[in-house]
Order: sequence, then C-alpha cells, then structure tokens
Amino acid sequence: MQIIAHRGASGEYPENTLLAIEQATVQGADAVEIDVFAVQGELIVIHDHHLARTTNGTGSIYQYSLAKLMQLDAGQGQRIPTLWQVLELTHNKCWLNIELKGDDTVAPLLALLNKAEQQLGFDLESLVISSFNHHLLSAIKQQQPQLRLGALTASLPLDYAAFASTLQAYSVHCDVSFINQAFVDDAKARDLKVFVYTVDQPDDIQRLKAYGVDGIFSNFPARSRKLSNKK
Ligand code: G3P
Ligand code: CA
Repeated sequence: MQIIAHRGASGEYPENTLLAIEQATVQGADAVEIDVFAVQGELIVIHDHHLARTTNGTGSIYQYSLAKLMQLDAGQGQRIPTLWQVLELTHNKCWLNIELKGDDTVAPLLALLNKAEQQLGFDLESLVISSFNHHLLSAIKQQQPQLRLGALTASLPLDYAAFASTLQAYSVHCDVSFINQAFVDDAKARDLKVFVYTVDQPDDIQRLKAYGVDGIFSNFPARSRKLSNKK
C-alpha cells in the first residue's frame, strides 16, 4: 500500500510548503499530494483560496498580485510555493498528485507541464492530476490524453464508476469515511487504482490494507508507513 504525503508531511510541517514536501521525500513517502490554484496565470500551491488559515495574510488569493502572495509567511518562514518549484523539488524523487482547486487551472497546468518536460526532462508518468471538479479532468483528457487522472469523490456517489470510466481515469480517490470492500472490489474490476484520504488512524490503516487499496493519503507519512508494515 503506497503512502502519499497529504499536503506534504503536513502533520509535522506547514502544509503545502517546500519544507513539508521535502520532509515527505526524506521520510520515504511514495508520493506527495498538493493543492493548486492559479493566480494571474501562475500556479501556486495552497489549499484554500482564503489566506488566513495557512498564512499571515488575510482575504482571498485573488485580491493580491503574485509578488505580494510570495511575500507571505506560510509557517516556519516558508513561502507559498509555485507549482514549478514543487516539480523541481520532487523530480526523480517520488510521484506527485496535483489536485486542482481553482477552475482556471487547466491551461496554465498544461503549459507548465510542457515546459517541465522540455527543461527538466520531467516524466509525466510520475504525475496524477486530480480534482473534485470532473469538468477540469475532462478538459485535460481531451487535450492531453496521456496524463493520469484521479477522479476525486467527496462521498460515495451511485455512479462513481461511470464518471471514472468516461474520464478513462487512472484512479479514484475516496474519503476514508465512505469506502468499503465492495467499492474497492468494483473499482479494481474496472482497472482503477484506489487511493483513500485522509488516513492517519491505526485502525483505518489496517482496515484499508485488508481491503487491498492501492494507497493512502497521510499527514504523517513516516508513522503511517510503519503502521502499514505492521502485521
Ligand atoms: O486529494 C485528497 C484530499 O486532499 C482531498 O481533500 O480537502 O484535503 O484537498 P482536501
Ligand atoms: Ca487535497
């Protein structure tokens, strides 16, 4: 079962910062998950469009210039990273799940990935692009069909397999509160990987391992790795 560091090693370091992401790779996470918005065409890594929870700023990211956003403290002296910085950091270290939060993210993402392929030799197969907004995923599938897509679900939709199949998704990403064995079996029969968020409790880790899920998003990747290796 793969361990995906949720917003980096966010249980111990400020979420979605280069520090949290680097620490996740040091702790041996298989992958890192990050959240992305677009501001003036630049992709930045932050979970909320409101700044107050994770930075010393207030209001919405859309009220500020990129230069001003880059000056904010995102915890422990960290800045809000750009997606480009995260691609540089994770390149050749672990796979990366980019969760699209903003609805204007597709065009800048495809342009940035093209640049990363050219300039860094970035392996696009080391990416999974996910979103709760399946319209964004559909737009990516039309423009760049080889990219791996993760269909995020907030609950347990009746038609989850239909949208995942229509998207030709690589994976479904499910909430730990709703997942069950039947869901996992059905997804696997459809050749979909199953990744579950957000999983830090020992009993959940054992239960999901028994279901045979492919990976879990954890805020504490090192601890979750140990727990998942336990018999
Ligand atoms: O991608 C899994 C999980 O991160 C989705 O929920 O709110 O933590 O972005 P959220
Ligand atoms: Ca997320």
